[in-house]
This record gives sequence, structure tokens and C-alpha cells, in this order.
Amino acid sequence: MQSIKSLSTTVIVLLCCLTGLLAQPYRPSAAINARVETLLSKMTLEEKIGQLTLYTTDWGSTGPTIREGYKDDIRKGACGNLFNSHSTAFVRELQKVAVEETRLKIPLLFGFDVIHGYKTIFPIPLGEAASWDLEAIEKSARVASTEASAAGLNWTFAPMVDISRDPRWGRVMEGAGEDPYLGSRIAEARVKGIQGKKLGDPDAMLACVKHFAGYGAPMGGRDYNTVDMSEKYFREFYLPPYQAAINAGAATVMTSFNDYDGIPASGSKFLLDQILRKEWGFEGFVVTDYTSINEMVMHGVVANDKEAGELALNAGVDMDMQGGIYQAYLKKSLQEGKVTQAQIDEAVRRVLRLKFELGLFEDPYKFCNAEREKNTLLAPAHRAAAREVARKSIVLLKNDQEVLPLKPSQKIALIGPLADNKTELIGNWNGAGNFNDCVSLKEGLSGANMQYAKGCELDGADRSGFQEALRIAGQSDIIVVAVGEKANISGEATSKTQINLPGVQEELVLELCKTGKPVVVVLMNGRPVVIPGIAEKANAILETWWLGTEAGNAIADVLWGKYNPSGKLPMSFPRSEGQIPVFYNEKSTGRPFDPNSKWTSKYIDESNSPQWPFGYGLSYTSFAYTTPKASVETATTRGIPSGKQVKVWVSVTVSNTGKVAGEEVVQLYIRDLVGSTTRPVKALKGFRKIMLQPGESREVRFDLTADDLSFYRSDNTFGMEPGEFDIMVGGSSNDVKSVRIRVN
Ligand code: NOJ
Repeated sequence: MQSIKSLSTTVIVLLCCLTGLLAQPYRPSAAINARVETLLSKMTLEEKIGQLTLYTTDWGSTGPTIREGYKDDIRKGACGNLFNSHSTAFVRELQKVAVEETRLKIPLLFGFDVIHGYKTIFPIPLGEAASWDLEAIEKSARVASTEASAAGLNWTFAPMVDISRDPRWGRVMEGAGEDPYLGSRIAEARVKGIQGKKLGDPDAMLACVKHFAGYGAPMGGRDYNTVDMSEKYFREFYLPPYQAAINAGAATVMTSFNDYDGIPASGSKFLLDQILRKEWGFEGFVVTDYTSINEMVMHGVVANDKEAGELALNAGVDMDMQGGIYQAYLKKSLQEGKVTQAQIDEAVRRVLRLKFELGLFEDPYKFCNAEREKNTLLAPAHRAAAREVARKSIVLLKNDQEVLPLKPSQKIALIGPLADNKTELIGNWNGAGNFNDCVSLKEGLSGANMQYAKGCELDGADRSGFQEALRIAGQSDIIVVAVGEKANISGEATSKTQINLPGVQEELVLELCKTGKPVVVVLMNGRPVVIPGIAEKANAILETWWLGTEAGNAIADVLWGKYNPSGKLPMSFPRSEGQIPVFYNEKSTGRPFDPNSKWTSKYIDESNSPQWPFGYGLSYTSFAYTTPKASVETATTRGIPSGKQVKVWVSVTVSNTGKVAGEEVVQLYIRDLVGSTTRPVKALKGFRKIMLQPGESREVRFDLTADDLSFYRSDNTFGMEPGEFDIMVGGSSNDVKSVRIRVN
């Protein structure tokens, strides 16, 4: 097989078409290209640079707002795109300046971070990932896009598809967790949901895949920090979701703040030109993250802002977010021959194409219909969808003696700083969401035989509420205690070294456990947390993340058993911070863990396994798996193009052995026993979410593809090697049954 590095775009596109695996990467039509050329021929250099410029309004930002007077910039044609302006009235006001007061009347793009809902807020992305329900995730993105596009927006800075194995990194809440396969499927679902049936529809927005690339792997989990790892590792574990999003048609890509292999992403020809455009055939535009061109000076790879702009354009950055570098220096750089007119023109083409694609030239106000805005935001159907996705996102981590579901006859003590709280439920990056629209847990449980006490705050050392909490606990049959994090301690710039529950919350829970009454812990948080005491002592634990507008109803549905929990963790929960990073798809090492040998890979003060692993999650029913069967013991793959099925499938029968109906996520993992480079002990390659009635059994079959068995080999090519593979199927990464096959 050819080296990946030398594969031409044509070959890749051809392969992709053959396999049918690549949905449809964005491709401009000839008609649009022709319109772009006509417009481009009329533009001055300043107007062209304006199209490559994106500024925030003063409505909100995630960094220093270094520029004022954006309206004047629009008027001069010096700013062709805005972000952080939304609502039809405001967008209309700004669009009017562009289309009525500029020479060429080129409409603006309006971007915003619509991360998990615009007005109706859905679970945080990490939470939604726990649903392993691609239809539900696509629906969530669709609703978000429907609402945001009704509020004037045509571009969202989502999905964030950065793989992360480090819960110290606060942004894990925005992604899909630790696994490249699950992350890729979710990336596709989100892009499809955001962009809808086709760009140009009034409810379709441009998606922006971010942060390209490797942003989820900063050293020490510290946001914005250096990223470095071998190219093979990078391609195997970190790049797949970005590519999946491109293949699903994502129209734009955002660069990341970090460097990779010594080059900041916004100046990396390797990332932007070689991988993104040449290997993956991306034809949309690339925008930087917030002032990340400027930050290349601090990275120390250029001496000043002007050089930073040159590095960025030469690498393949089309649009400068908020830095003002292109606007300030590109003209001079062109005069000095540091960049070419052709490069500038190409970047402008990429931006203009998508403005045509959206239909903005036909109707620049197509997203500014106030009536539509009013009828769309927080529509009852959207709230219903949010409740549905929210309940699917909940993970049952523990349920000893089946204390859950609650029984209507039980007297409940509802305790905890998040039990009667709304402000945190919409999580971080909550669009235009208003926490007053949220249903709290207490409201969700209304009608129950229940007493409430707060117990303590979300942080701080005040234990004065313990007494009242213990008093009502003493009068109850069962305790439900809601603890977790404030929403603003996950998300951007919120890296932490201690990921336990802040303040005295764990202490409160442990005090409640001492009463001897059954304790159900409802966790609300944005990242995996370390809670060894609670993990041991509580009877039941529900991970509910931040579930959004319908949080309280969704949690109540699960507590009462009106919905049987079906979520599975998309990211491992460590036992202690010292284990981080702890993830399921690790390599074997030359000295794999052996409890009887000191000289093997382990800690002397902690177990190797996480508290709860990737793929783990309980149900109110139980499932039994047969040992998987392979259709053949030896499969042949010769001559089969990448992505095609090898002639082998694996099947298992899954039975619901409990008393209630339930959904199970049947997970398929693969291990290549001998490879020319070390292989993970397990790698997810497929999953199915199935509903089974009590007593019902179903056969689940997975057809293996050549790609499932392929990897980056010692010569840097991607492909299979003949040999033996363990094919494992089960309901969690740590609970599988296995069959061995040979591939010739
Ligand atoms: C910085 C964040 O890293 C990025 O994800 C976001 O889209 C931009 N700010 C714009 O708000």
C-alpha cells in the first residue's frame, strides 16, 4: 500500500466513493464557482481582506475584545463576518449596514457558539455522547440549528470533536469523550443535524469543526498547553473525528490554539494543507480560533504580528477570528511578496462560496424573520426533544439492592445544593439559554411525598446545613442527594488538578450514608469526577451531567422508572487524579499488569483500572450476552479496498434477563494480536443500541470492514496485516466476550 503521505486527493476521494463510507464532503457547484469569480473580479484588495476578517460584537466574547467600531469596519468593507451577535433584530441591523452601505453589498456571516442548544438547552455534549444514540444527537443539533437560524444566525462554532482522555481539561464537557470511533460517529451526527438537509435551507447553518487539531491533548490537561505525540498516534486516536465531520459535509473548520509537533495549528501547513485539504479533500474555509494568529508571536515561532499573518495565510488559514492581523498587515505582506495575490483570492473564494451556498445574496435577511423567531424558540416540540435526549444521556453508575427506581409509596428526603437549583442546569456554553426556563430536580419530582433541605453550598466549607439535612433524612424512607459542580468550572480555561466535588459536598453525602437509609446520589457535572467515598458508600449513583432546560423532568423520569436508564460512559472516570490519563484503549506495554509481579506496569498505591470505564452503564434490567460467533474462522481480505467489508461478520445474542424493558448499547471491540506497531488492547469498532422487552432475545450482527482491522503500520501506511484478531462484544469496555478470527 502507498504511503498516506503520498496519496493524492483524487485517489482518496475515489476510494471514499467506492467504500460509500464518506457521506458527502462539502463541494461547491460550478454555478456557485462562476458567481464567485464574477464577484471576485470586482473586488478591491481591501474588500477581499475584509471577507477574511471576523470580529466579535460587544455582546460577549471568550477573550480580550481588542477591537471596537466593528460597524465602521463593516461599512468600509473591512469586516465581512461577525460573531456573538444574535436575535433577528440585532442581526438585521448589522446586515443592513453590509448590504445597504457597502459598495459591493456582500452579506455578512453571523457566527455564534451554539454548542448544545440555542434557547432550548440540551445536555452538554459529553452528556449527549453518553446516550450513544446517534439519532437523538442529530436531533438535538437539528433543534439547536432550527432555533439559532430563526434567531438570525447562519454559522455555529460546533461541533467540537476533540478527543480527550484528560478530565483535568475543562473542555471535555464540549466533546464526545475519549474514543475516536464513538467520537467520529457523533461528529457526523452533529454535522448532519447542524447543516440539515442542505445548506441554503432557511433552517440550515454552517457547521464549524473544531479545534483542528489535537486541542484535547494538552500536556497536564492545562488548557492551551503544548500538544505533542507521534504522528501515528495522532492519526489513530485524535484525527478520526475531524475527518468524519469533514466527510459528513462540514463546511468550515476552526484551528486550535495549541501547537502540534512544534508548530502552532494556525501556522501549520502540515495540518491545514497536507492533511485537511490534500489528504481529506476539504473545500470549505478555515477560520482561526480567537486571536490565535496573534498568539503565534507568544508561541515564539514568529517575531511579530505581521509575520504571524504571513505564516497563517501560507499555512492555509482563510479567516482571522478577532485578531485583526489580516486587516492590519496582509496588504503590506502582499506588497513585500511574503504572500501572493493568488493565496488571498483563494481564501476569499472559499468564504464567498459559502455565502452564496447559504443563499445570502438572494436574501441577506433570510434568517431575520421575527415572527419565525418568536414561534420557534422554546417551542413545545423542542422542549419535548430536549427531555427525550436528556433522559437518554443519564448513566446509572451504581444501583445496589435495586434501590432505584423510587417507589411512589416512599417518603423522600431531597437534599443537596443542586436539588432546587436552576442556574447550573444549562451548563457552560449555553447559547441564548435562560436558566429560568429550566425545570429543577425539585420541580421534576413535584407531587412526591418529599421534604427538601439544601445541606450545603456547591463550594466553601459551611457545614451549617448538615443538621437540617440529617433531620429530614431521618424522617424519610430514601434520600436523593443532588451534588456536583458549578457550570462555570467546566468549559474553556477551567483546567483543574483536583476533580473531586468542590467544598463539603462529598462529606455531606457520606454523613447521609451513615444514617443507614438508602442514598441515591444524583451527580451534575461537566467532566468525570473523582468520588471514591461516594462510589463506595452510596447505594445508587446517577450521572446526569448538565442536562439543560428539561433536566429536572428527565431525572425524575429516570428516578421513577418511567424511563429505564440506557446511557454508557463516553469517558472513563478515574479513581484518583494520579491515574490521569486513564482510558480503555491503551496499549499492552511489554510488561502488562500482573497482580503477582512487582515488575509490571502498575501503581503501587492505586489500581490500574478506572472507577468506571468507558462504555459502562447499568440499567434497571439485566442483559446476558452469548459468546460471539464469527461467520468464518479465517477471512480473506486481499484485494478489498479500504473500508469494504472483509468477508466476516460477528454475531451475538443479547437477552433481557430482567423484569422491565430496557435499551442496551451492544459494543464491538477489536484487538489485533500482532502488528508491526503496537496495537491497543481494545478498540471500539461498532455499536448498536437495541430495545428489548423482558425475556426477549435478539441477535446482533456486525459486519467487519477492512478499515476496522487497519492501522498505521510501521512504514506509516494505513492498512491491515494478516494475522489473528480478537473480536469482543459486550455491554461495557470491561465486560466483553470474545471470539478469535484469523485474517489472511
Ligand atoms: C474560543 C473557543 O476556543 C472557541 O471554541 C470558540 O468558538 C471561540 N472562542 C469563539 O467564541
